[in-house]
Amino acid sequence: MRKNILLMVLAVLGVVALLPRISGAANGSGDSEADRIVRGYQIAPVHLNLKGRDRTLVGLGSYIVNAQAACNDCHTNPPFAAGGDPFQGQPEQINTAGYLAGGVEFGPFTSRNITPFEEGKPAGLTFQQFKQVIRTGHDPDQEHPQISPLLQVMPWPIYRHMTDRDLKAIYEYLSAIPAIDTGDDD
Ligand code: HEC
Repeated sequence: MRKNILLMVLAVLGVVALLPRISGAANGSGDSEADRIVRGYQIAPVHLNLKGRDRTLVGLGSYIVNAQAACNDCHTNPPFAAGGDPFQGQPEQINTAGYLAGGVEFGPFTSRNITPFEEGKPAGLTFQQFKQVIRTGHDPDQEHPQISPLLQVMPWPIYRHMTDRDLKAIYEYLSAIPAIDTGDDD
């Protein structure tokens, strides 16, 4: 009997010891999703059109795009504005005029415009199409069938491991950024 009571006390103590860590994750001291959403809004380099958008997903998407997935490095030409290149020790200034509008050349491949320039859809893709592109790497525009039907350079072999929710967040964020029409239809 004594032993049981002792075990119960130990169990309660264990839960009490864990509580601060669990709740800490939600109050800003941990790495919770809420923290990432707040940070996502802080670091978005362009004005976001939030009308009709899921604000949670937009913030999370901004965090993934701007703090983790480096989309800007490859999809903005050039990635940084004049005088704002961190690689030259300058205070970072993203090239907002070309933000995610593509046009960076990688040998025979050129990054695409992934702003919502076509009917408000990022890269002109529905979410289902976007998800399919990231999961399979299949090039929806078939820009270089002579080389491969699959997107090259673009890190879809990594991104495809993201959860549906993360991909949805990226898509929602890309839907909220300014559309830039480069004249190309890709
Ligand atoms: C390492 C460079 C690189 C990074 C990082 C990168 N991309 Fe790409 N992306 C490319 C290139 C290059 C292409 C075109 C590839 C080709 O023509 O085979 C492309 C193509 C795409 C396409 C196909 C668009 C279309 O119109 O068919 C989408 C969508 C896309 N990228 C989204 C993203 C997103 C979202 C991110 C960040 C989460 C990202 N990319 C990060 C280089 C990159």
